Amino acid sequence: MGETDVLRDLSARRQKVLDGGGPKAVEKQHSLGKMTARERLERLLDPGTFTELDTFVEHRCHDFGMADKQLPGEGVVTGYGNIDGRKVFVFAQDFTVVGGSLGEMHAKKICKVMDLAVRVGAPLIGINDSGGARIQEGVDALSGYGQIFYRNTVASGVIPQISVIMGPCAGGAVYSPALTDFIFMVQGANMFITGPQVIKAVTGEDVSADDLGGAITHNSTSGVAHFMYDDEPTCLAAIRKLVSFLPPNNLLDPPASESPFPAVTDAALRDIVPKEANRPYDMHDVISRLVDGGDFLEVHAHYAMNIIVGFGRVEGRPIGIIANQPRVAAGCLDINASDKAGRFIRFCDAFNVPVVNLVDVPGFLPGVNQETGGIIRHGAKLLYAYSEATVPKITVIVRKAYGGAYLAMCSRDLGADMVFAWPGAEIAVMGPDGAANIIFRKEIEAAPDSAAARREKIAEYRDKFANPYVAASRGYVDDVIDPADTRLRVAGALSMLESKREARPSKKHGNFPV
Ligand code: HXC
Repeated sequence: MGETDVLRDLSARRQKVLDGGGPKAVEKQHSLGKMTARERLERLLDPGTFTELDTFVEHRCHDFGMADKQLPGEGVVTGYGNIDGRKVFVFAQDFTVVGGSLGEMHAKKICKVMDLAVRVGAPLIGINDSGGARIQEGVDALSGYGQIFYRNTVASGVIPQISVIMGPCAGGAVYSPALTDFIFMVQGANMFITGPQVIKAVTGEDVSADDLGGAITHNSTSGVAHFMYDDEPTCLAAIRKLVSFLPPNNLLDPPASESPFPAVTDAALRDIVPKEANRPYDMHDVISRLVDGGDFLEVHAHYAMNIIVGFGRVEGRPIGIIANQPRVAAGCLDINASDKAGRFIRFCDAFNVPVVNLVDVPGFLPGVNQETGGIIRHGAKLLYAYSEATVPKITVIVRKAYGGAYLAMCSRDLGADMVFAWPGAEIAVMGPDGAANIIFRKEIEAAPDSAAARREKIAEYRDKFANPYVAASRGYVDDVIDPADTRLRVAGALSMLESKREARPSKKHGNFPV
């Protein structure tokens, strides 16, 4: 072949791969409101920055009709590109090629890009749209998944890993996303271990794929997924936003930017919390006045809504926020809230994102369900995660901080570097009503007017402890501040703590209470 023929041949071969599973399969994909793998990557990355790897990799299975299939490359597109000028590594399964099913060479492509992401130290984003293990490839397909799980685990805490579910994600395939830091889902996508047909065969039960785990179920009930969006373009834009808060790897700080929002006194913060201790309010109102431009990316927004977690910036510095939500279950800590916040805190700690905690918590949720469901084991995750974290930890006690929940929301004793309290804060072992009924029970019962005696004793306990000054007098609280100064004081603390270093005894790893 002459030089021109060689180049023409190269171009034809490449084009064949770029065409994916062919026009019919692409049309079917589009008719379902889904983009192809390459279209998704083009949307996700800065225009023109995608570099593809392993374009010409092919499967080498000859069984069950695979030898006859004229397949263009493998059913996954891998490579790297930029998001806002910062490098990320990517893979996107191509459903138009054998249903995006994962075989030996498909897995090899993913593993190669994972290894490269870890070597270079840049985030990995994987878009899943696949019928699962390629049935024709048997144990080679299973081995492929195993190699991916292993790499997900080794990369955990080294580079941010983001999974995106834009189609089926079935069987053991779900465990790679589950081992990553964040899962995005679009409406119409599913994740489940055992599919409807198998369930029918084994149990006789008739269920749909959506019953087992669509975007809503996994975002609100199971807690498997962290974000959900109605369509693919909105989802891909949200991934870009999440990446903007994250460092490339665990050795670097998150990207700080020049902020057009200076920290100033904000009188509106004085009017958010109601005077009555039991009246709810929306903690989002405090968060949006704390972060630059009110720009808050909430994580797990539909799950365990009694606690709020997410990313924002203060004077351009990314922070993680963990906040009780008095509007849902009075902001009590329960099993799911502990799981949600514990995992988020560990992410922030692994990737050098300072945590800011907004506290208004009446306690751990009481009741048989919580106790028998293991609140002891789950609540311990919160204590462990905060105690383990060595990033800057700043706590603002907005209203109630009672009992174990006071400790669990990053009190001084769990290593908070700076604790502020608003003047209306109540810091005690429990609320005045419960406390008076226990410690003054005999006096109340013996009094001629028990109701009046109870009121008096409740008031006595409230006067003593339902304020921040006892805690401040012992140094558990560093300062009692005007709520209007919150943003200013948090910004000051973040700046002071910028060079924080904290060494711990070396160990292989702790035994996190799972
Ligand atoms: C091989 C597969 C495949 C698979 C789909 N295809 N899944 N080929 N292995 N796992 C092929 C189809 O044969 C078809 O090929 C093409 O992909 C498109 O699939 P369709 O069925 O036509 O698409 P659709 O109607 O949209 O249905 C999508 C689907 C269905 C719901 C995902 O394909 C399906 O149920 N697939 C099997 C799902 C499953 O049970 N996977 C195994 C899970 S067990 P042609 O040539 O006709 O276009 C597992 C174990 C992993 O993953 C364990 C890891 C530890």
